[in-house]
Parts: sequence; C-alpha cells; structure tokens
Amino acid sequence: MFQKTIQEGVCLRLLEERHAAEVFAVVDRERAYLREWLPWVDGTTKVDDTLTFIQSALQQYAANEGFSAGIWRGDQLIGVIGTHKIDWLYRKVEIGYWLASNFQGRGIVTAACRAVIDHAFAQWKLNRVEIHCASGNAKSCAIPKRLGFQFEGTQREAQLVNGRYLDIQVYAMLARDWK
Ligand SMILES: CC(C)(COP(=O)(O)OP(=O)(O)OC[C@H]1O[C@@H](n2cnc3c(N)ncnc32)[C@H](O)[C@@H]1OP(=O)(O)O)[C@@H](O)C(=O)NCCC(=O)NCCS
Repeated sequence: MFQKTIQEGVCLRLLEERHAAEVFAVVDRERAYLREWLPWVDGTTKVDDTLTFIQSALQQYAANEGFSAGIWRGDQLIGVIGTHKIDWLYRKVEIGYWLASNFQGRGIVTAACRAVIDHAFAQWKLNRVEIHCASGNAKSCAIPKRLGFQFEGTQREAQLVNGRYLDIQVYAMLARDWK
C-alpha cells in the first residue's frame, strides 16, 4: 500500500472506493478552477463518475501499472496525484496532479511529486518520469522545473480542454539524474 508523509500533517494515501464522495465534493466545489487545465472535470458530474475513476485506479494498482493517491491534510482530502499507466517496455511513466485552490503556494504538489518520483525510481526501477503541462499553465510548469526536470519540447495542440487545443510542454527526469 503506497502511503507517504510529504510535509508535516500532509500525506499521500492510495485512493479507495470509500473516498469517492469526498473526492467528488472537492472537484465539484473547485470545478471552475480545475476545468481550466483538466479535461475530465466537465465529465465528472456525480459521485459515481469519481467512483469509476477510483475503481479503475485500483485496478491499475493491482495490475502493477501505477496508482492514484489522495493528498490528505489530516483527514481532509486536498488533492490527487497519480501516474498514467506505467510503460514497462520502456520503463517510463507520466505523473499528473491537482490541488484544491486554497492549498496552493505551499510546495505541497512539489513535495508530492518528489515522493512519487522517488517511488518510480527506487521501487519500480523505472528509467524515466515525465510531466506534461499546458504552456499557459505556469504554476504547473514550475513544478518539473523546480524539481530539475529537463524541458524536452512542446507538443502543439496535443490536448483538447474546454473546446481549446492546448500546446503541451514535455518535461522529463532520468533515473541517473535524480537527486
Ligand atoms: C498546478 C498546481 C498543482 C500547483 O500546486 P502547488 O502545490 O501550489 O504547487 P507547488 O507545490 O509547486 O507550490 C509552489 C508554490 O509554493 C511555494 N512554496 C512554499 N513552500 C515551498 C516549498 N517548501 N517547496 C516548494 N515550493 C514552496 C512556492 O514559492 C510556489 O509559490 P508561487 O506559486 O507563489 O511561486 C495547482 O495550482 C493546481 O492544482 N492547479 C489546477 C490543476 C492543474 O493545473 N493541474 C496540473 C495539470 S498539468
């Protein structure tokens, strides 16, 4: 079971089915802020949608293909960080994240990423971790930069979010360069 304290009082814990209502409530409350950059927000309209997401994340975890963890401050869910499906052939993975707006600016997601990247290199023995951020999403792009990732280029109009095609910046870290 993946569980890790990342700051005093803040930890990552695997999402479980029983967390669906709480995760949905945060997404619902933060809808206007989250939908600017995340393509799945508009399609998340009821607790069942979040439950389906958590169930698929648990299947992913059971299949050793990555995981999604809640970012918890005490017992309060304040965000989610997770991996896309691990590419075992090429030993690489992509990380995604979001945080409730009122907890931004405290380094929480940077610390959460550090924990997941440590896990990817130390436990899974992957060779490469990627973070993809929209060019206009400066707060998100700052995270891989702060963690020492290399900017590798921009995929033009690679995501469709709220009817807009977004240019996506690709950042990557290799196992040999971590720490
Ligand atoms: C992008 C997002 C995840 C950033 O979350 P965050 O926790 O504020 O990001 P960080 O962990 O990098 O925090 C950095 C900020 O904390 C400050 N900070 C405070 N203590 C810090 C510490 N110990 N370490 C690092 N940063 C620290 C930094 O100065 C920085 O502040 P600034 O933005 O005013 O420069 C959040 O804004 C979000 O969820 N946005 C909407 C969804 C989204 O865009 N997801 C990503 C899609 S690719």
